Amino acid sequence: MSEKITFTIDGVEVQADPGQTILQAAEAAGIYIPRLCAHKDLTPHGSCRVCTVFVNGRPQSACTQPVAPGITVENDTEKINAIRKDIIEMLFVEGNHFCMFCEKSGNCELQALGYRFGMLAPKYPYMFPKREVDASHPDIFIDRNRCILCGRCVRASRMLDGKGVFEFVGRGPEKRVQVNAEARLADTDASVTDKAVQVCPVGALLPKRVGYKVPVGQRLYDHEPIGSDIEKK
Ligand code: SF4
Ligand code: FES
Repeated sequence: MSEKITFTIDGVEVQADPGQTILQAAEAAGIYIPRLCAHKDLTPHGSCRVCTVFVNGRPQSACTQPVAPGITVENDTEKINAIRKDIIEMLFVEGNHFCMFCEKSGNCELQALGYRFGMLAPKYPYMFPKREVDASHPDIFIDRNRCILCGRCVRASRMLDGKGVFEFVGRGPEKRVQVNAEARLADTDASVTDKAVQVCPVGALLPKRVGYKVPVGQRLYDHEPIGSDIEKK
């Protein structure tokens, strides 16, 4: 068996297996590092930067950075949480996130992080972009207004479903999720049982006809903040 690697997170000694990322090692030790594009079943992408930690004083994404002996990781500090809150605020203003009308409310990781970091009115101006909805598929719809470009659906479709239904197209403000058919989700082999549909952290990819099956008030983050399950370990 390979030797454990010892390092610290916010002064707490953590033991990790070689090859683990800081995020994985923290989670195994019951320490929550916020994340959005990372998902336990997918290879890390390192794009959202919500998992930013300081490693020996330098910012790194915890979901991609492997553990190393003796490193000092800062995670739950005022400075880092302010960076995370800024990122969350930017994601809110960059899309059209009307939580009160969204079926994902209470189960949405972006909304839950907004609550966890005490976000009130964002300090950045809303961009109100014009984004398209694709409701052509009989069982699934894409609402790009809520998409945060985390890439989970892209990776899950390729890696777990073996389909490659989703891909990013465009650059900058024009970047969006597209499907591998001429134009419509209905023309792909996407299925409501695909892992790609289940891993979306927000309400951008949702199954049809199950809206409000779980009433608001009884949803995942309605009673405890996101990350509480890890912190209880
Ligand atoms: S549709 Fe959902 S999973 Fe796919 S990139 Fe957008 S937010 Fe991420
Ligand atoms: S969770 Fe690490 S960069 Fe998104």
